[in-house]
Amino acid sequence: MAVDLLLGLQWGDEGKGKIVDVLTKNYDIIARFQGGPNAGHTLEFDGIKHVLHTIPSGIFHKNAINIVGNGVVIDPVIFKKELEALQRFNIDIKSKLLISRKAHLILPTHRLLDAASEASKGKAKIGSTLKGIGPTYMDKTGRNGMRIGDLELDDWKEKYRSLANKHEAMIDYYNVDVQYDLAELEKDFFKSIASLKELTFIDSEEYLYQAQKKGKKILAEGAQGSLLDIDFGTYPYVTSSNTTAAGACTGLGVAPNQIGEVKGIFKAYATRVGSGPFPTELFDEDGETMGRVGNEFGATTGRARRCGWLDLVALKYAVQINGVTELMMMKADVLSGFEKLKICTAYNYKGEKITHLPYNIEAENVTPVYTEMDGWEEDLTQMGSTEEFPDSLQAYIDFLEKELEVPIKIVSVGPDRMQTIHR
Ligand code: IMP
Repeated sequence: MAVDLLLGLQWGDEGKGKIVDVLTKNYDIIARFQGGPNAGHTLEFDGIKHVLHTIPSGIFHKNAINIVGNGVVIDPVIFKKELEALQRFNIDIKSKLLISRKAHLILPTHRLLDAASEASKGKAKIGSTLKGIGPTYMDKTGRNGMRIGDLELDDWKEKYRSLANKHEAMIDYYNVDVQYDLAELEKDFFKSIASLKELTFIDSEEYLYQAQKKGKKILAEGAQGSLLDIDFGTYPYVTSSNTTAAGACTGLGVAPNQIGEVKGIFKAYATRVGSGPFPTELFDEDGETMGRVGNEFGATTGRARRCGWLDLVALKYAVQINGVTELMMMKADVLSGFEKLKICTAYNYKGEKITHLPYNIEAENVTPVYTEMDGWEEDLTQMGSTEEFPDSLQAYIDFLEKELEVPIKIVSVGPDRMQTIHR
């Protein structure tokens, strides 16, 4: 039985949380495979708005098992807060939320190191979410990290102490102004570890293998987006994990030949938080309108997102490296009211018109070439089927499908579960 994937195809914030929540009724297991509390997956249903950071977005469905996979990094302090926010929903967390023993732990000093590293970079900072993501993955690949499974061993506190001491020396080395009271941070950390230890830890690759054998339907949930992938994103302005399809194999222990549908999500326009190149970024009224109407503020950091036109060069690249089999277009409603819409179909690069993503897409190298289409006036938020779509929206969808050569199966016209149109 195949494992389906759900991936963001831009710079994150495409609306993965909403779509996982919508799709969960078709799956037995939702498994998150990378990233950590840098993500903010927003779900809206029955008049409730809820933001998840580490916990998979299937948690609100009674029958679904939710797995935090080995590729994820967990901050026990944030995790505890997420669990507390879920208390009012009466979810049986112990049986519905399972955590891989091989997932890595974010320590308080990882967060401090993130801050020190960013401060030391000055203007060249990545614009990280300051959740300690980069330093935690550095310890993972440096083979120094602490894993969830370590918490079951007697000597985990010694391991913690030795790593935290090393981090403190590294923070000193950066020689920047990062104020902290580690004793205070540790109080919170140790308390949160105690809560974490009450949850169910599993060998998730074995669990998923057995589940597949039993014919269970599994959806692997990505975080961030393809253009933030550590290998294929706009390096160094990226996150520290593989956000692309292959990351689901390493982040869950699922074999490549078990991957079924690859569902790719994109917004009808583009946004980015943090630093880094963004060829179609708008600095005018149109960009301001997208930000305001689309409520483009980070769910984790509250930062305003940069907005711009849809970039098909970048989107095609994401479709290609992920092997996307079906697309979902989010926030179509935000584009209502624009007289003309632009879609970037090529770049002018070193005097040439190109349609692939070059090594460097900084503004000084790349100028977008746009195709202009008619916009639509109609409010889409109350529409229930594609028959109600204005002709120019239908033309926009047809154009994208033709260019991307993948069908758009879902068009989202608002944040609520109900505002989802299947095609
Ligand atoms: P980090 O993942 O916190 O190290 O941040 C690295 C870059 O990825 C920064 O530009 C962040 O703004 C961006 N980033 C990280 N997580 C998300 C996300 O969930 N949505 C959008 N951008 C993100």
